[in-house]
Amino acid sequence: MPRRAGAAARPGAAVTAAALSLPLGGGRAAPPRPGPAAVASHRATHRPAARPAPSPPRPEPAAAGREAAMSLLSALVPLLRVYCIGLLVILHQLRRRLRPRCPPAPVFPTQNGKVAIVTGGAKGIGYQTVKHLARLGMHVIIAGNSESEGQAAVRKIQEETLTGKVGFSLLPQEEALTSVKDCWGGWPWLQHQSCVQKHTSMEFLYCDLASMKSIRQFVQRFRAKSCPLHVLVNNAGVMLVPERKTEDGFEEHFGLNYLGHFLLTNLLLDTLKQSGTHSHNARIITVSSATHYVAKLHLSDLQSRCSYSPHGAYAQSKLALVLFTYQLQHLLTADGSHVTANVVDPGVVNTELYKHVFWVVKVVKWMTAWLFFKTPEEGASTTIYAAASPEMEGVGGCYLYNEERTKSADVAYDEELQRRLWTESCKMVGISDESSRIP
Ligand SMILES: NC(=O)c1ccc[n+]([C@@H]2O[C@H](COP(=O)([O-])OP(=O)(O)OC[C@H]3O[C@@H](n4cnc5c(N)ncnc54)[C@H](OP(=O)(O)O)[C@@H]3O)[C@@H](O)[C@H]2O)c1
Repeated sequence: MPRRAGAAARPGAAVTAAALSLPLGGGRAAPPRPGPAAVASHRATHRPAARPAPSPPRPEPAAAGREAAMSLLSALVPLLRVYCIGLLVILHQLRRRLRPRCPPAPVFPTQNGKVAIVTGGAKGIGYQTVKHLARLGMHVIIAGNSESEGQAAVRKIQEETLTGKVGFSLLPQEEALTSVKDCWGGWPWLQHQSCVQKHTSMEFLYCDLASMKSIRQFVQRFRAKSCPLHVLVNNAGVMLVPERKTEDGFEEHFGLNYLGHFLLTNLLLDTLKQSGTHSHNARIITVSSATHYVAKLHLSDLQSRCSYSPHGAYAQSKLALVLFTYQLQHLLTADGSHVTANVVDPGVVNTELYKHVFWVVKVVKWMTAWLFFKTPEEGASTTIYAAASPEMEGVGGCYLYNEERTKSADVAYDEELQRRLWTESCKMVGISDESSRIP
């Protein structure tokens, strides 16, 4: 399978350069002046001089300067905002790390018989999430855009588990399987999996979140298994990619980080509703970021067509995920379904997410990450808490950071904005808008 088949790069659109490039004219270039030869031949014919065509008006230098300044500002402002919030989070993390006594790591009950999907579970925060949920007894499906990396992640977790590199005791597989079968009245494909897996139960299913077609195919393949779904972790993401579009023509941050998960969640909603019970709600966990605090949602330009800033586009996609979660929880509550939706902020974590940042930042990160950044395991802790903690049973519509409920940006609580984004998103991905039926 091709990696990120849906992403069509626009060559040469290196983000910062594009954003900072100054428009030199106001659009059309002036027509070429006639050369000396043309003038001579014109004189030789002695024809009356034709009136020259009026050349298009040249932009006022002041207007061109204003345009350039606006272009520069629209790139710089989101960049500065994102770096400022990043620094604040890093300082907060450092203070927490230097505290004399760290709180003990939470202990979660076993999750035998439960099934989870984790998008982007082959590396980074997603990988750690898969590892921990699988070790708690869940059957975890990694939804990713690289078959080889996904399979390698499954193998690595199995090996680590078998060689005892984990810091907690394992459940006997027999016990886990029995409880899974009890729940669903048999699970034939798990028996096949269990031939390979001793203590953890995982598999990889291809899903390119930059392609609506691929998402629909993933859901079809998942449904064909006729298994329940208790936990959906919307984790995958890209950050600060150069300006490019997904297979369906959406700006990549918005299309992949937000719309991809919007469609995936909606397509899986029926299965989640069937799997949740009064005492054990199914859980949807969506990974956002502190950058949402400094984001602006441009409802009239969600695809950043007017001006593209990678920082602005990433932050906007993360704000959209928070708005989506709150609206989703509102709809689930109105529906009376046993499903909850929460959004988590992992902090600043040392992963490959930063591969598109400016090289100077990469060098600084490389030198200082051990001190300032969370490890991927630490970064996954809030997601795992949201997925498995008894404290979160039946609790939805929360923004979680460091395993605690906290306040998200004020704009995220704007119900009108939540509704309008939901309706617009339904149109974009081509699904019916159920929210219109709910007051
Ligand atoms: N790291 C941080 O400091 C930080 C801070 C706040 C929020 N977050 C959020 O945390 C989440 C996980 O990020 P991470 O830090 O763990 O980064 P990561 O290591 O780069 O992991 C991102 C995962 O998403 C996958 N992915 C990318 N494009 C995809 C696509 N088209 N279809 C399916 N999967 C795709 C990646 O696969 P490939 O690489 O193989 O494409 C990778 O497995 C993201 O949503 C990110 O925005 C991270």
